[in-house]
Amino acid sequence: MSKWYKITEVENIPLMGSRKVEIGDIEIAIFKTRDGSIFAINNICPHKKGKLSEGLVHEKIVTCPLHNWEIDLASGEALGNDTGCTNVYENKIEEGFIFLNI
Ligand code: FES
Repeated sequence: MSKWYKITEVENIPLMGSRKVEIGDIEIAIFKTRDGSIFAINNICPHKKGKLSEGLVHEKIVTCPLHNWEIDLASGEALGNDTGCTNVYENKIEEGFIFLNI
């Protein structure tokens, strides 16, 4: 059964950057894109477990720091010729705070 967790203030996530959080044994990368949208995905690249929170954000994509796979932040899917998927988590913003549905 999923549950909403209050995580942090939206302003604590850098624009075009990310922060990682741990909820239980799940490590989650929270991203903020140029337009201020928030995305939350599992912090593990579907290729060889690179830390996606350390990747480069562009448009609504993060490029993995290890071998440059591009991961769609909305779906968690690898783009281009690569195949694989990482979990995505629903989020909502209330009174300036990010909540994740885990
Ligand atoms: S581990 Fe992410 S591209 Fe290889």
